[in-house]
Amino acid sequence: MILQIDKLRKSFGSNEILKGVSFSIGEGEVLGVIGSSGSGKSTILRCINYLEKPNSGRVRFADRDFDIETAEKQDIRYMRSHTAMVFQQFNLFKYKTALENVMEGLLVVRKQSKKEAECISREILARVGLENRMAYYPRELSGGQQQRVAIARALALDPKLIMLDEPTSALDPEMIGEVLDVIRNVAKSGKTMLIVSHEMNFINDIADHVLFLDGGLIAEEGAPSALFGNPQQERTRLFLRRANIISDYSI
Ligand SMILES: Nc1ncnc2c1ncn2[C@@H]1O[C@H](COP(=O)(O)OP(=O)(O)OP(=O)(O)O)[C@@H](O)[C@H]1O
Ligand SMILES: [Mg+2]
Repeated sequence: MILQIDKLRKSFGSNEILKGVSFSIGEGEVLGVIGSSGSGKSTILRCINYLEKPNSGRVRFADRDFDIETAEKQDIRYMRSHTAMVFQQFNLFKYKTALENVMEGLLVVRKQSKKEAECISREILARVGLENRMAYYPRELSGGQQQRVAIARALALDPKLIMLDEPTSALDPEMIGEVLDVIRNVAKSGKTMLIVSHEMNFINDIADHVLFLDGGLIAEEGAPSALFGNPQQERTRLFLRRANIISDYSI
Protein backbone atom coordinates (compact mmCIF):
# COMPACT_ATOMS: atom_id res chain seq x y z
CA MET A 1 0.00 0.00 0.00
CA ILE A 2 1.50 3.35 -0.98
CA LEU A 3 -1.28 5.58 0.34
CA GLN A 4 -3.93 4.92 2.93
CA ILE A 5 -6.34 7.60 4.06
CA ASP A 6 -8.53 6.95 7.09
CA LYS A 7 -11.64 8.93 8.01
CA LEU A 8 -10.64 12.13 6.24
CA ARG A 9 -12.79 15.07 7.28
CA LYS A 10 -12.85 18.55 5.83
CA SER A 11 -15.20 21.45 6.48
CA PHE A 12 -15.39 24.93 5.01
CA GLY A 13 -16.93 26.94 7.82
CA SER A 14 -19.97 24.99 8.99
CA ASN A 15 -20.20 23.14 5.69
CA GLU A 16 -18.74 19.66 6.09
CA ILE A 17 -17.67 18.47 2.64
CA LEU A 18 -15.79 15.27 3.55
CA LYS A 19 -17.40 13.34 6.38
CA GLY A 20 -14.94 10.54 6.98
CA VAL A 21 -13.56 9.32 3.68
CA SER A 22 -11.32 6.23 3.74
CA PHE A 23 -9.49 4.58 0.88
CA SER A 24 -6.13 3.20 -0.14
CA ILE A 25 -4.00 2.91 -3.25
CA GLY A 26 -1.50 0.14 -3.89
CA GLU A 27 1.83 0.81 -5.55
CA GLY A 28 1.39 1.14 -9.32
CA GLU A 29 -2.39 1.24 -9.03
CA VAL A 30 -4.76 3.71 -10.65
CA LEU A 31 -7.59 4.91 -8.43
CA GLY A 32 -10.47 6.73 -10.11
CA VAL A 33 -12.74 9.13 -8.23
CA ILE A 34 -16.16 10.01 -9.61
CA GLY A 35 -19.06 12.00 -8.22
CA SER A 36 -21.26 14.93 -9.04
CA SER A 37 -20.05 18.52 -9.14
CA GLY A 38 -19.46 19.83 -5.62
CA SER A 39 -19.21 16.38 -4.06
CA GLY A 40 -15.67 17.08 -2.85
CA LYS A 41 -13.47 15.28 -5.39
CA SER A 42 -10.99 18.14 -5.78
CA THR A 43 -11.06 18.71 -2.04
CA ILE A 44 -9.80 15.15 -1.46
CA LEU A 45 -6.81 15.74 -3.76
CA ARG A 46 -6.14 19.14 -2.22
CA CYS A 47 -6.21 17.69 1.29
CA ILE A 48 -3.68 15.00 0.35
CA ASN A 49 -1.04 17.56 -0.60
CA TYR A 50 -2.24 20.11 1.96
CA LEU A 51 -3.30 22.72 -0.56
CA GLU A 52 -6.25 22.61 1.84
CA LYS A 53 -5.78 21.88 5.50
CA PRO A 54 -7.84 18.79 6.38
CA ASN A 55 -9.66 18.77 9.74
CA SER A 56 -8.95 15.24 10.84
CA GLY A 57 -8.05 11.75 9.75
CA ARG A 58 -5.02 9.56 9.45
CA VAL A 59 -2.53 9.33 6.59
CA ARG A 60 -0.14 6.56 5.72
CA PHE A 61 2.02 7.42 2.73
CA ALA A 62 5.06 5.33 1.83
CA ASP A 63 7.08 5.26 5.07
CA ARG A 64 5.14 8.05 6.85
CA ASP A 65 2.22 7.49 9.16
CA PHE A 66 0.64 10.44 10.94
CA ASP A 67 -2.54 11.83 12.38
CA ILE A 68 -3.76 14.91 10.54
CA GLU A 69 -4.55 16.83 13.72
CA THR A 70 -1.00 16.43 15.00
CA ALA A 71 0.79 16.51 11.64
CA GLU A 72 4.23 18.07 11.79
CA LYS A 73 5.83 20.34 9.23
CA GLN A 74 7.98 17.48 7.96
CA ASP A 75 4.86 15.36 7.36
CA ILE A 76 3.32 18.09 5.22
CA ARG A 77 6.59 18.67 3.40
CA TYR A 78 6.84 14.94 2.74
CA MET A 79 3.33 14.80 1.24
CA ARG A 80 4.07 17.78 -0.97
CA SER A 81 7.46 16.66 -2.18
CA HIS A 82 6.37 13.12 -3.07
CA THR A 83 3.11 13.95 -4.84
CA ALA A 84 2.51 15.92 -8.02
CA MET A 85 -0.72 17.43 -9.25
CA VAL A 86 -2.05 17.94 -12.77
CA PHE A 87 -4.84 20.51 -12.91
CA GLN A 88 -7.75 21.06 -15.26
CA GLN A 89 -6.33 24.47 -16.27
CA PHE A 90 -2.73 23.24 -16.83
CA ASN A 91 -1.26 26.01 -14.60
CA LEU A 92 1.95 26.36 -16.63
CA PHE A 93 4.35 29.27 -16.17
CA LYS A 94 3.33 31.68 -18.94
CA TYR A 95 6.76 33.18 -19.52
CA LYS A 96 8.66 29.91 -19.60
CA THR A 97 8.99 27.55 -22.55
CA ALA A 98 7.75 23.96 -22.41
CA LEU A 99 11.29 22.84 -21.58
CA GLU A 100 11.74 25.49 -18.87
CA ASN A 101 8.37 24.57 -17.35
CA VAL A 102 9.46 20.96 -16.94
CA MET A 103 12.95 21.93 -15.72
CA GLU A 104 11.67 24.33 -13.05
CA GLY A 105 10.80 21.74 -10.40
CA LEU A 106 14.07 19.90 -10.94
CA LEU A 107 16.07 23.09 -10.47
CA VAL A 108 14.09 24.65 -7.62
CA VAL A 109 12.73 21.65 -5.70
CA ARG A 110 15.29 18.98 -6.47
CA LYS A 111 18.26 21.39 -6.69
CA GLN A 112 19.64 19.63 -9.74
CA SER A 113 22.19 21.16 -12.09
CA LYS A 114 20.89 22.89 -15.20
CA LYS A 115 22.50 20.28 -17.40
CA GLU A 116 20.94 17.37 -15.53
CA ALA A 117 17.52 19.05 -15.37
CA GLU A 118 17.58 19.77 -19.09
CA CYS A 119 18.57 16.23 -19.97
CA ILE A 120 15.75 14.69 -17.90
CA SER A 121 13.21 17.25 -19.14
CA ARG A 122 14.03 16.66 -22.81
CA GLU A 123 13.63 12.94 -22.36
CA ILE A 124 10.27 13.29 -20.62
CA LEU A 125 8.92 15.81 -23.12
CA ALA A 126 9.81 13.37 -25.88
CA ARG A 127 7.92 10.67 -23.98
CA VAL A 128 4.73 12.75 -24.13
CA GLY A 129 5.25 13.43 -27.85
CA LEU A 130 6.53 17.01 -27.58
CA GLU A 131 10.07 16.65 -28.91
CA ASN A 132 9.26 19.34 -31.49
CA ARG A 133 7.67 21.80 -29.07
CA MET A 134 10.31 22.20 -26.35
CA ALA A 135 11.08 25.84 -27.13
CA TYR A 136 7.42 26.90 -27.40
CA TYR A 137 5.67 29.09 -24.85
CA PRO A 138 2.30 27.96 -23.45
CA ARG A 139 0.37 30.46 -25.60
CA GLU A 140 1.97 28.90 -28.69
CA LEU A 141 0.71 25.44 -27.73
CA SER A 142 -2.71 23.82 -28.08
CA GLY A 143 -4.63 22.91 -24.92
CA GLY A 144 -3.73 19.26 -25.40
CA GLN A 145 -0.04 20.11 -25.79
CA GLN A 146 -0.11 22.36 -22.72
CA GLN A 147 -1.67 19.58 -20.68
CA ARG A 148 1.02 17.18 -21.90
CA VAL A 149 3.66 19.67 -20.71
CA ALA A 150 1.90 19.72 -17.33
CA ILE A 151 1.98 15.91 -17.19
CA ALA A 152 5.68 15.95 -18.17
CA ARG A 153 6.34 18.46 -15.39
CA ALA A 154 4.66 16.14 -12.88
CA LEU A 155 6.57 13.11 -14.16
CA ALA A 156 9.93 14.91 -14.05
CA LEU A 157 9.83 15.02 -10.26
CA ASP A 158 9.33 11.25 -10.14
CA PRO A 159 6.67 11.50 -7.44
CA LYS A 160 5.35 8.48 -5.58
CA LEU A 161 1.82 9.58 -6.50
CA ILE A 162 0.45 11.67 -9.36
CA MET A 163 -2.93 13.26 -8.81
CA LEU A 164 -4.88 14.42 -11.85
CA ASP A 165 -7.92 16.63 -11.34
CA GLU A 166 -10.15 16.49 -14.42
CA PRO A 167 -7.17 16.65 -16.76
CA THR A 168 -9.31 16.77 -19.91
CA SER A 169 -12.23 18.96 -18.82
CA ALA A 170 -10.81 22.18 -20.27
CA LEU A 171 -9.86 20.65 -23.61
CA ASP A 172 -11.58 20.81 -26.98
CA PRO A 173 -12.96 17.38 -27.88
CA GLU A 174 -10.31 16.73 -30.55
CA MET A 175 -7.53 17.22 -27.96
CA ILE A 176 -8.92 14.85 -25.35
CA GLY A 177 -7.70 11.66 -27.02
CA GLU A 178 -4.02 12.65 -27.12
CA VAL A 179 -4.00 13.55 -23.42
CA LEU A 180 -5.83 10.36 -22.44
CA ASP A 181 -3.27 8.36 -24.45
CA VAL A 182 -0.42 9.98 -22.53
CA ILE A 183 -2.12 9.29 -19.19
CA ARG A 184 -2.75 5.69 -20.23
CA ASN A 185 0.96 5.28 -21.03
CA VAL A 186 1.95 6.78 -17.69
CA ALA A 187 -0.33 4.26 -15.97
CA LYS A 188 1.18 1.41 -17.98
CA SER A 189 4.66 2.50 -16.92
CA GLY A 190 3.64 1.63 -13.34
CA LYS A 191 3.06 5.08 -11.88
CA THR A 192 0.62 5.26 -9.00
CA MET A 193 -2.20 7.63 -9.92
CA LEU A 194 -5.29 9.17 -8.42
CA ILE A 195 -7.56 10.50 -11.17
CA VAL A 196 -10.70 12.57 -10.85
CA SER A 197 -12.53 12.60 -14.15
CA HIS A 198 -15.88 12.98 -15.81
CA GLU A 199 -14.61 10.77 -18.63
CA MET A 200 -16.33 7.63 -17.38
CA ASN A 201 -15.23 5.50 -20.31
CA PHE A 202 -11.64 6.45 -19.61
CA ILE A 203 -11.95 5.70 -15.89
CA ASN A 204 -13.58 2.40 -16.78
CA ASP A 205 -10.67 1.64 -19.07
CA ILE A 206 -7.73 2.76 -16.94
CA ALA A 207 -8.67 2.51 -13.25
CA ASP A 208 -8.01 -0.54 -11.08
CA HIS A 209 -10.51 0.67 -8.51
CA VAL A 210 -13.17 3.38 -8.51
CA LEU A 211 -14.69 5.45 -5.71
CA PHE A 212 -18.08 7.06 -6.07
CA LEU A 213 -18.25 10.06 -3.77
CA ASP A 214 -21.66 11.27 -2.65
CA GLY A 215 -22.89 13.18 0.38
CA GLY A 216 -19.38 13.56 1.80
CA LEU A 217 -18.79 9.81 1.89
CA ILE A 218 -17.80 7.02 -0.44
CA ALA A 219 -21.23 5.77 -1.44
CA GLU A 220 -19.91 2.86 -3.45
CA GLU A 221 -16.56 1.53 -4.61
CA GLY A 222 -15.18 -1.37 -6.53
CA ALA A 223 -13.55 -2.56 -9.70
CA PRO A 224 -14.72 -0.47 -12.66
CA SER A 225 -16.40 -3.48 -14.26
CA ALA A 226 -18.54 -3.94 -11.11
CA LEU A 227 -19.21 -0.28 -10.38
CA PHE A 228 -20.08 0.65 -13.94
CA GLY A 229 -21.52 -2.71 -14.98
CA ASN A 230 -23.51 -3.64 -11.92
CA PRO A 231 -23.84 -0.74 -9.46
CA GLN A 232 -25.38 -1.76 -6.14
CA GLN A 233 -26.67 1.57 -4.86
CA GLU A 234 -29.57 3.43 -6.31
CA ARG A 235 -27.69 6.73 -6.12
CA THR A 236 -24.78 5.24 -8.07
CA ARG A 237 -27.19 4.09 -10.76
CA LEU A 238 -28.81 7.51 -10.85
CA PHE A 239 -25.44 9.25 -11.15
CA LEU A 240 -24.23 6.92 -13.89
CA ARG A 241 -27.50 7.22 -15.72
CA ARG A 242 -27.20 11.01 -15.66
CA ALA A 243 -23.64 10.65 -16.95
CA ASN A 244 -25.04 8.45 -19.73
CA ILE A 245 -23.04 5.42 -18.70
CA ILE A 246 -25.92 3.07 -18.24
CA SER A 247 -29.01 3.54 -20.31
CA ASP A 248 -31.53 2.02 -17.96
CA TYR A 249 -31.61 0.68 -14.44
CA SER A 250 -34.01 -1.20 -12.28
CA ILE A 251 -34.85 -0.05 -8.80
N1 LIG B 1 -11.99 27.28 -0.44
C1 LIG B 1 -13.28 26.96 -0.28
N2 LIG B 1 -14.07 27.68 0.53
C2 LIG B 1 -15.37 27.36 0.74
N3 LIG B 1 -15.97 26.32 0.15
C3 LIG B 1 -15.24 25.55 -0.68
C4 LIG B 1 -13.87 25.83 -0.95
N4 LIG B 1 -13.39 24.90 -1.80
C5 LIG B 1 -14.44 24.09 -2.07
N5 LIG B 1 -15.54 24.47 -1.39
C6 LIG B 1 -16.85 23.80 -1.43
O1 LIG B 1 -16.66 22.42 -1.22
C7 LIG B 1 -17.51 21.66 -2.03
C8 LIG B 1 -16.71 20.64 -2.80
O2 LIG B 1 -15.87 21.30 -3.72
P1 LIG B 1 -14.93 20.51 -4.70
O3 LIG B 1 -14.24 21.53 -5.52
O4 LIG B 1 -14.09 19.57 -3.93
O5 LIG B 1 -16.00 19.69 -5.58
P2 LIG B 1 -15.74 18.76 -6.85
O6 LIG B 1 -16.35 17.44 -6.55
O7 LIG B 1 -14.32 18.80 -7.22
O8 LIG B 1 -16.64 19.48 -7.97
P3 LIG B 1 -16.38 19.66 -9.55
O9 LIG B 1 -16.77 18.36 -10.19
O10 LIG B 1 -17.33 20.76 -9.94
O11 LIG B 1 -14.96 20.03 -9.75
C9 LIG B 1 -18.28 22.65 -2.90
O12 LIG B 1 -19.56 22.82 -2.36
C10 LIG B 1 -17.48 23.91 -2.80
O13 LIG B 1 -18.28 25.03 -2.91
MG1 LIG C 1 -13.27 19.53 -8.84
